[in-house]
Amino acid sequence: MKAKVDKDTCIGCGACPGICPEIFEMDDDGLAVAKDSVIPEDLEESAQEARDGCPVDAIDID
Ligand code: F3S
Repeated sequence: MKAKVDKDTCIGCGACPGICPEIFEMDDDGLAVAKDSVIPEDLEESAQEARDGCPVDAIDID
């Protein structure tokens, strides 16, 4: 699985690194970025929770 943050949609709310800091972090521009493009199996659930928790639906996981 891979995670991607759409920076045009992200409003920098900070929820995703709060939920899954192993995968998401805030970039210098104040918007989120996915650290690792490939999500380790044990982090898939947490990454999906972060996606579901994003208020503007900026995270894609597939
Ligand atoms: Fe941005 Fe959504 Fe994360 S708004 S900071 S991608 S929870």
